[in-house]
Amino acid sequence: MHPLLPVPGAGLDDSGLDDAGLVAHYAYPEGLTAPYVRVNFVASADGAVTVDGRSGGLGSDGDRRVFGVLRRLADVVLAGAGTVRAEDYRGARLPTLGTDTPPPVAVVTGSADLDPASRLFTDTAVPPIILTLGSAPAARREQLAAAGGDVVVLERLTPDLVLAELGRRGLHRVLCEGGPGLFGQLVAADAVDELCLTVAPLLAGGTAGRISRGPAGGHPRRLELVGVLHEAGVLLLRYHRATPIG
Ligand SMILES: NC(=O)c1ccc[n+]([C@@H]2O[C@H](COP(=O)([O-])OP(=O)(O)OC[C@H]3O[C@@H](n4cnc5c(N)ncnc54)[C@H](OP(=O)(O)O)[C@@H]3O)[C@@H](O)[C@H]2O)c1
Repeated sequence: MHPLLPVPGAGLDDSGLDDAGLVAHYAYPEGLTAPYVRVNFVASADGAVTVDGRSGGLGSDGDRRVFGVLRRLADVVLAGAGTVRAEDYRGARLPTLGTDTPPPVAVVTGSADLDPASRLFTDTAVPPIILTLGSAPAARREQLAAAGGDVVVLERLTPDLVLAELGRRGLHRVLCEGGPGLFGQLVAADAVDELCLTVAPLLAGGTAGRISRGPAGGHPRRLELVGVLHEAGVLLLRYHRATPIG
């Protein structure tokens, strides 16, 4: 894994970044007092977010390594229910650095249509947080709670209320792993602080969507490129929200 930006200083040998180097490269800001939203995606060079309906076909050793490091830096993994269902999510395996527990997976679902027998509930060291609505069938909400989910009914599933709930729990280092529907809402609400985007050296073709899908009419949000790593043709880009001028 080799850095292009920040421009590598003297002393970095040809072996590239070790895990400590990656942890430093992807450090969250210090002293957070409110949720900071980092979003992580992988896409093909022609912009596809999936191959055959899942992200696995876009993966690489480097992307999987960074995916793991980003989880170890996070207080919570935030995902939309579409991703949790498509990717058969389970709990994060390794503890957040500096703690002895993995970050919980927090799932945004208006329907509460999650399988209580799925790995999200059965293969996790910490209860998943299920962020849902009062309009979701009560029986489903009860089943998810009985399966060990920490079920939270919010008035609306808008980014401000979702992030307020995470903030109330002291979960400030947010890692959103998608999918495009949830990301599109975060973009529209101007709630994205950072995007980590892996560009896989593939032309996926087909009809796959792109990494965000949301309400039309919003104005583009400017980003600042702050990190670029490469490994075996794979680019790992890191963008921050651009600082307003003036
Ligand atoms: N390449 C990558 O890095 C990557 C990353 C993530 C996902 N993916 C792919 O993306 C696909 C899934 O994306 P997606 O856009 O369909 O799903 P998504 O964004 O993960 O989840 C959408 C779902 O989240 C819930 N939701 C989100 N916002 C809501 C709101 N404001 N109110 C109520 N419910 C809300 C709804 O769940 P309910 O339907 O339960 O109400 C909605 O159907 C999968 O194919 C996955 O493999 C790729």
